[in-house]
Amino acid sequence: MAASGVTEDEYVLIGRDLVKEFAGRSGLFSRRGSHVRAVDGVTLGLKKGRTLGLVGESGSGKSTVGRLLLRLLDSTDGEILLHGEEITKDRHGDLRRARREMQMVFQDPYSSLNPTMRVGELVGEPIAYHRKLRGQALDDEVARILVAVGLSGEHARRFPDELSGGQRQRVAIARALGPSPDVLVCDEAVSALDISIQSQILNLLLRLQEELGLTILFVSHDLSVVRHVSHDIAVMYLGQIVEQGPAERVVDEPAHPYTAALLSAVPEAKPADQRSREKILLRGDPPSPSEPPQGCPFASRCPVAFEPCDKIRPEHTAVEGGGTVACHLQTAGPVLAGRPVPIELLSRAHK
Ligand SMILES: Nc1ncnc2c1ncn2[C@@H]1O[C@H](COP(=O)(O)OP(=O)(O)OP(=O)(O)O)[C@@H](O)[C@H]1O
Ligand SMILES: [Mg+2]
Repeated sequence: MAASGVTEDEYVLIGRDLVKEFAGRSGLFSRRGSHVRAVDGVTLGLKKGRTLGLVGESGSGKSTVGRLLLRLLDSTDGEILLHGEEITKDRHGDLRRARREMQMVFQDPYSSLNPTMRVGELVGEPIAYHRKLRGQALDDEVARILVAVGLSGEHARRFPDELSGGQRQRVAIARALGPSPDVLVCDEAVSALDISIQSQILNLLLRLQEELGLTILFVSHDLSVVRHVSHDIAVMYLGQIVEQGPAERVVDEPAHPYTAALLSAVPEAKPADQRSREKILLRGDPPSPSEPPQGCPFASRCPVAFEPCDKIRPEHTAVEGGGTVACHLQTAGPVLAGRPVPIELLSRAHK
């Protein structure tokens, strides 16, 4: 924890050294008794009223981290602190209180919203459960929240399939806001939407954050979306966070070769930037999480890997400009004027 500087009073929600192993399925293609290590020693903290973007390719363990933090899944190891109190082993009433404070919005409102319930019931249900509102007081609160997410009281009578995709995602957000949570986990919440609708929903989240002081974990495989909404960014690869820090620093001066590769694939708004950032092509696929490598998880695909990378797992070290990175280049790699050589220069030299 010391390396990433996560101290309790600054953070609403902390995950510390989180590990999640799933029992492997014995079948045609998997070895009997093998485990999938979906999350492998993740430490992160959500700062009050801010957004942490969690980014990484499919299967890197982002959703699993979100579900562990919300206690929707039990962790194999590690601890979770909400407002400085450990909730890792909470059950029943304590867990219900913790769950009220942390809500989730999923990618696909088709499957996360029961199609047989009207919007008013969908939004009202968690309010009745957590806040015990009934009758007119409940109806008024539902109408208020629908307006807050850009819908109207008229939508309360509709079924989910009588709404557009964007409206359905607004209902999912309204449902999450009902219990008045402190923390919202948005898991690929805009990934299934058209670009124009994506930006409407992102703007809604930004506005709600400002009005309600919400703390948000924004999970997405898409760095071009994450960078627009996040104050801080954590980059995941094969169950581990390989780099984290203030969004601006991570995007402008990535310290991990994997972050640099992700960024090089993002279309730039400014053509000048596009010219200066060459696309870094990654070879091969990530290793299987059921057989995690001994050294750096990225070593087998890293364009600038050297001696220690496939043998020793790198520790997180502080990066100039904020945050931390787990990369041997920072501690044992080539140095230019007393600083680690920037990734972009190195990967160009390796072409
Ligand atoms: N219930 C489960 N049982 C077994 N393995 C699982 C389970 N849930 C996730 N996994 C495995 O854990 C790893 C991480 O999955 P996770 O869904 O967290 O990734 P992700 O980063 O959210 O991916 P995506 O971008 O595709 O949503 C994957 O290898 C996945 O197959
Ligand atoms: Mg996911």
